[in-house]
Amino acid sequence: MSVQPNTEQAQGEGLAGRDDAGFSEVGPLGPPYPIDARINEAGRLEVGGCDLVEIARTHGTPAYVFAENDLRARARAAVAAFGPQTAVLFASKAFPCTAAYRLMAAEGVYCDVASGGELHLALKGGFASERILMHGNNKTPAELQQAIDARIGHIVIDSFDEIERLSEMLPADGPRTLIRVAPGLKPSTHAYIQTGQTDSKFGIPLSQVEQALKKAPNFAGLHCHLGSQFFDVDIFRAAAEVLAGFGAKCEVVNVGGGFGIPYLEHDHPPRIAEYAGTIRDAVAEHFGADTRIMVEPGRWLVGNAGVTIYTIGTVKEIPGVRRYVAVDGGMSDNIRPMLYQAEYTATIADRAAAKPASDVRVVGMHCESGDVILPEVLLQDPAVGDTLAVPATGAYGHAMASNYNGVTRPPVIFCADGAARVVVRRETHDDLARRDVE
Ligand SMILES: Cc1ncc(COP(=O)(O)O)c(C=O)c1O
Repeated sequence: MSVQPNTEQAQGEGLAGRDDAGFSEVGPLGPPYPIDARINEAGRLEVGGCDLVEIARTHGTPAYVFAENDLRARARAAVAAFGPQTAVLFASKAFPCTAAYRLMAAEGVYCDVASGGELHLALKGGFASERILMHGNNKTPAELQQAIDARIGHIVIDSFDEIERLSEMLPADGPRTLIRVAPGLKPSTHAYIQTGQTDSKFGIPLSQVEQALKKAPNFAGLHCHLGSQFFDVDIFRAAAEVLAGFGAKCEVVNVGGGFGIPYLEHDHPPRIAEYAGTIRDAVAEHFGADTRIMVEPGRWLVGNAGVTIYTIGTVKEIPGVRRYVAVDGGMSDNIRPMLYQAEYTATIADRAAAKPASDVRVVGMHCESGDVILPEVLLQDPAVGDTLAVPATGAYGHAMASNYNGVTRPPVIFCADGAARVVVRRETHDDLARRDVE
């Protein structure tokens, strides 16, 4: 797809509008590009003031390029939209690198970790321990002890086994606990990323919550997470109502994350202010206006800030069938299309303003026929050596990357005001053998 400037936005009526602080969720190139992406005078795609073709030349490909100002603006916008009574937690599974933790901590965001490893990174990234909450449907005793020793703020209890474990381990002045409830609600999203249904590995089923409430040590409140990438704001009202049905006295109510983002040009998710207003009203209505709220957006904070760049290595025409464009990455840097048919768009960064007229399939370099990044996309006459940019890859790309086929995982590059800095270096071949024991 080409990235035609969004004229509506250019005329001052952004697709998503601007909030009081002047934050617009959609930049001049429209969804799903970073807020400060633009087409420069050379007709190339620029992110954070950096020309992506130049970044590809200097740093190699594939690479995860992030608009640092976009990350900051979204963190600020979320904190402002929810207000002082709500802790906005960065669901760090979406983008666990110390530079991201550092940035989020500096912007007043809290943090959710889903393992001992993420806890380690969050602390290394500078999060105050009391601002960290730990999740997981099967935390090991060692991870629970790590969380207790670090004196994190909250642990989310996911099972009766965990209640037993924590009852023995948790000191009275240790982390407070939330009970994760499986509220029996299904947001409209891919089945693999629905989590709030009764038939789920996550959370305590509704029929057993009362029993859990009697036993949970250091109880502070209830939690649920309905799923990911859904646009249905009203489902949060239903969630608050279900949680309130137990009559539990909650200091805090956590309704999870999952706020949808634009992956494609025509995706128009609700604005953050809509999520915030609905969630605040629903919790106030069912639990009282003084109840503290927690939310856990992951992709909303980081997804649209990231663009993956690749180099096109081959273009193969199968007469009467289709044209395959192969890039130097694939399922090792973005598994989402293969895991749950996640859709993306793309553009040729070298000719971003040109009209896209070639209908192609973009594939990776891995030894799997399923290694298809974009099954069908219109591109600007893709040629060998071009830089292909895939936007909205800031969440769960770096996080889920692998070394399949012995590839070295890509660097993470933060771009702001025309300067690029590598915050995670590219792996080397030596890294690949580093854990091997002779
Ligand atoms: C408990 C919990 N909270 C928050 C999130 C973040 O979801 P998203 O990145 O869709 O906002 C997840 C994602 O899996 C999750 O499991």
